[in-house]
Amino acid sequence: MNDIIINEVGPRDGLQSQPTVLSPQQRGGLIQALFAAGLTNIEIGSFVSPIAVPQMAATDALAQALQVPMGAEVSALIPNMKGYELARQSGVDVVAVVVSVTETMNEKNIRMSLSQVMEVAEDIITRGSREGAQVQAYLAVAFECPFEGLVDPDRVVDLAARLMAAGARELVVADTIGAANPKQVRSLMERLVDNHGAPRLACHFHDTRALGLANVYAALEAGVRRFDAAVGGLGGCPFAPGTKGNVATEDVVMLCEQLGYRTGVDIDRLLTVVEMVAQLLDSELGGRAFGWLKQRAA
Ligand code: COA
Ligand code: ZN
Repeated sequence: MNDIIINEVGPRDGLQSQPTVLSPQQRGGLIQALFAAGLTNIEIGSFVSPIAVPQMAATDALAQALQVPMGAEVSALIPNMKGYELARQSGVDVVAVVVSVTETMNEKNIRMSLSQVMEVAEDIITRGSREGAQVQAYLAVAFECPFEGLVDPDRVVDLAARLMAAGARELVVADTIGAANPKQVRSLMERLVDNHGAPRLACHFHDTRALGLANVYAALEAGVRRFDAAVGGLGGCPFAPGTKGNVATEDVVMLCEQLGYRTGVDIDRLLTVVEMVAQLLDSELGGRAFGWLKQRAA
């Protein structure tokens, strides 16, 4: 399979920990610009407590105002059934539930134990299937947890099997703090591809230790064709200390296209979106390849 699906998470993972809080109109403008750059899958925000994450307040108004192009898909992150209901009321039919693989990370992130989170996730998946929603399940801190250290891959494989059996459309394996290396990624993703097939799997990497792209490559070698990425390398979880940005969308597009895969993203338009976000947030942004890509475009 030569096509890569990039799920752009800048408007959610990217913005959720920024000191500058953008208005729903600014966030909407960013999302429309990302569609115009050829991204077809965008996580537009989250339906979480606005006290916990003020950056994501008013995702309902944002969702309702969006002009989603034909064939494109928007999704939103939800922590619980209330989030599911708010997402559906706003017309968002693809939702992402997050299960952290360790107890402590679940407590810090959404104040639930692992078994509670699994129960909530399974309930949301079942209800989603009944009501025509698509539920993606994230396994967060799938390689290393900022509180509990290295994660046993067997735990990830077991939780993945339960979420898939419940009917998750897709399982996203997330290196939330950017601590994984390509050998771990390849080995875990090969096991999951064997168990569930590549079309239902995706990977989510952070570039904290400069291994983001190497990890994308390792997952590609294991057969994975769906990746989360954030424009300009924005990103980080406010509840996981030490996180840096997501692997940058422009870097992932460059890698995939150089390897002969198709992403459908117009890189030059994407570079202008990087500049737009940098201006909105008044901060320097851009993936590792941004400078080179920009020069090449000039
Ligand atoms: N969306 C909006 N508000 C929500 C909500 C949701 N999905 N879930 C709960 N709330 C509200 C409740 O209605 C309640 O409001 P009230 O005080 O006005 O009555 C308040 O939040 C507290 O609810 P409670 O069930 O006691 O939750 P909590 O205080 O234990 O917090 C979460 C749990 C999950 C709501 C909160 O920790 C959260 O939203 N975390 C965000 C996690 C996140 O985004 N992480 C980064 C991405 S992985
Ligand atoms: Zn992340």
